[in-house]
Amino acid sequence: MSLPYIPFSPSQQRVANYFARNFGSGNGELHTGVSTDCQMFRYAFPDWNTNPHAAFNYFNTGVQQVHAVEMAIGSVGRRLDELDSVLDFASGFGRLTRQMIHRMDPAKLWVSDIQPESMAFQGPTFGVHSIVSGLEPSEFDPGRKFDLIFVASLFSHLPRNRFDQWLRRLWELLEPGGVLAFSVLDRSTGWMRLPYEADGFSFNPEISEIDCIENHEYGSTIVTEQFVAEAIARATDGRGHFEMVPRGLWHQDVYVLSDHPIEPPNWGLMDSYFPYSVTNQHVFGTVYGTKVREIVLKVEVLCKGSVFAVGEAQTWSEDAVVFHCGDRFLGPGWGHPVAFSLRLPRPVTYEDDIVVKAYGQWGAVRTFPVNLCEVG
Ligand SMILES: C[S@@+](CC[C@H](N)C(=O)[O-])C[C@H]1O[C@@H](n2cnc3c(N)ncnc32)[C@H](O)[C@@H]1O
Repeated sequence: MSLPYIPFSPSQQRVANYFARNFGSGNGELHTGVSTDCQMFRYAFPDWNTNPHAAFNYFNTGVQQVHAVEMAIGSVGRRLDELDSVLDFASGFGRLTRQMIHRMDPAKLWVSDIQPESMAFQGPTFGVHSIVSGLEPSEFDPGRKFDLIFVASLFSHLPRNRFDQWLRRLWELLEPGGVLAFSVLDRSTGWMRLPYEADGFSFNPEISEIDCIENHEYGSTIVTEQFVAEAIARATDGRGHFEMVPRGLWHQDVYVLSDHPIEPPNWGLMDSYFPYSVTNQHVFGTVYGTKVREIVLKVEVLCKGSVFAVGEAQTWSEDAVVFHCGDRFLGPGWGHPVAFSLRLPRPVTYEDDIVVKAYGQWGAVRTFPVNLCEVG
């Protein structure tokens, strides 16, 4: 029998401890045990069992996911801790769950996945309800409905028939006024060069990171915006109202769907999916406002909660350290990004708890992790 948790290398453990101190409960708590069976930890790094980037990527993408969850439910004016029932569908081994349980009562959180091992791991590890799913959407019966159903990176893997079937089934499982948020890979990402079917749907059975699901059931899927709009209309018999958030989750677009009209979602401040990092004692990257005309005013680097480096956003000049990029680096769908390169007063390690904090014009504030793997 395999060990329940990946035995982290010393550098991976430092990364895990950094996330626990800075991006967990607020009291230094974050469950950092990752199942040895978790494909999301392994797929991007051949040397995943020692490489600290594998650990950084895993915990950082969990932080990015919980932001998307909070923004999705915020788009109907509600908060996670007010909800009676949330389902994280296709939840894997709990990359997101470990963040969710610090934001809501775990007794109100359900997770579901087709892999029985992932459900056997998540239930006792996080104290949430777990449901083993199957291939047939019509047979998926959790025995209740949900205020929020979140689906990260499943529709980006489904074949054509299952795309429509799962959309319909999950829609049926929403409480009145509930929200279904799911991510897709849009052709505009240019992520994979796949030929398009005439209706804007493309499925490649050869590209999959989950070996235990047959390739004709789980591959890689790219869609057009028009395809998703039509699929939503079919699945909801024309009753679904939705908004699309370009790159609302990593390189994937997020669709937020409800039976009531919803405001265009305000996704707060966003990084570019690739994490901030430190080179030559500078923290650098880009940050975007997503509300209409919201611009980023200021970027700080914090060290153990205190300001270590700061810059006000200005128009570009030779010596500007935080500057508006105009449309030169425009992220599709976002407002104009601000680029920054802030010099730190001394070299740093993970134990310095370095984070980036950005401030938007209309009050949005967000704190982001900083990857120090090279120097830490
Ligand atoms: C790309 S992974 C994403 C996992 C998780 N949402 C995350 O972001 O860490 C896709 C997940 O979908 C699950 N899956 C595939 N087919 C499914 C089905 N029919 N029902 C439930 N889960 C399914 C896989 O087992 C896998 O864990």
